[in-house]
Amino acid sequence: MKSSASAPGKVILFGEHFVVYGVRAILCAIDRRITATSETIDELEIRIRSEIGDAEVPLGLSWADQKAPRFMRPFLHLAREALGESGTKGGLEIRLESEIPPGMGLGSSSAACVAAAASIWGLFEKKPREEILRRAIAAERTIFEDASGADTSASALGGIVSYTRDRLERVDPGKSLCLIIANSEYVHSTREEVLKVRRFKERNEEAFAEMCRREQGLVESALSSLVSGDMRSLGLMMTQNQEMLKKMGVSTEKLDVMVMEAGRTSYGAKITGAGGGGCIIALVDESNTAQTLGALEKVSECFVARIDFEGLKYL
Ligand code: MEV
Repeated sequence: MKSSASAPGKVILFGEHFVVYGVRAILCAIDRRITATSETIDELEIRIRSEIGDAEVPLGLSWADQKAPRFMRPFLHLAREALGESGTKGGLEIRLESEIPPGMGLGSSSAACVAAAASIWGLFEKKPREEILRRAIAAERTIFEDASGADTSASALGGIVSYTRDRLERVDPGKSLCLIIANSEYVHSTREEVLKVRRFKERNEEAFAEMCRREQGLVESALSSLVSGDMRSLGLMMTQNQEMLKKMGVSTEKLDVMVMEAGRTSYGAKITGAGGGGCIIALVDESNTAQTLGALEKVSECFVARIDFEGLKYL
C-alpha cells in the first residue's frame, strides 16, 4: 500500500530568530513543494530515498547506533512512531521529491517533515492537519531542538500566517502579495545561525531585549499594513527588520549586496529564514517587478514567488 502527501516551502516576512525567543513572526507559504510517498515493506527496516541522500536503517537501533545522516532523523522518528502506534509488523519506505532547494531558508526540511508525517499516517489512519503539524514539529526537533515550529506551521496551514509558539493565525492581506526570491547559493545551517544569535544574546542581554521589543512593535505594525494593503510601509518595515538581523550577525556580505540591489527598486528587502547564506526576499508589485528582477539577476539567481494557499495536501 502507498500513500502520498505534499507540503509547501515558506518565506519569513518578519520575525525570524526573534520567534525563537517568543516574538511573533509573519510567514508566507510559497508555490514550491515537497512530495512524500510512503509504502509499507516486509523488511524490518526504514528506507529513505531522497535527492540529497538515501538510507536503510534497521528497526530498533538507537540514534547513537544509527549510521544514517543527521538530516534523516525526523523521518526515522516519524516512521518509528507510526509503526509503533499502529502495531505494524514490517518496515517503511519513504520517498521525498522536492522543488525546494535545501539549506536556502525556504523551509525545505519543515515541508519535508509535514509531507512525510502526512504520507506515513495516510497508510494507517489519516490524521487531521493539527495533529500532523504537532508530529512534524516534534520530528523537526530531533535535529534542531530549538526549532520554533514557525516554518512547519506555515507549511502545514498555507497562506500567510502569524505565529508564536502558542498561537497560529491566518492573515488575510488587503492586497495580493508579490515577492521576488533571490538565492545567494550559499548553503547555511539553521542550527548554526540560531546558535550564533544565542551567543549574540548572551553577550548583549539588554540590547537584545530591546531589539525583541522593537521587533514585536514592527510585527504588529506590519500586520496592520498587510491587512490594509499598504505595500510602501510594509516594505519599509522589511528593511528595518533587515537592519536588526544584520546587527545580530546573520546577514553576509553577499546578502547585503543583494538586499541593497533589491532595495533600489522594490518596496523593501531582507533575508528570509536563518541567514548566513540562503535567500533574500523583495516586496514588489506590477510596477517594479521587472526592474527589481533585472537588478537582482545581475548578482544572483532569482524568481517570482506566488503564495500557496493550500498548505498540506493528501494526494
Ligand atoms: C528558520 O527558518 C527560522 C528561525 O527563526 C528558526 C526557527 O524559527 O525555528 C531562524
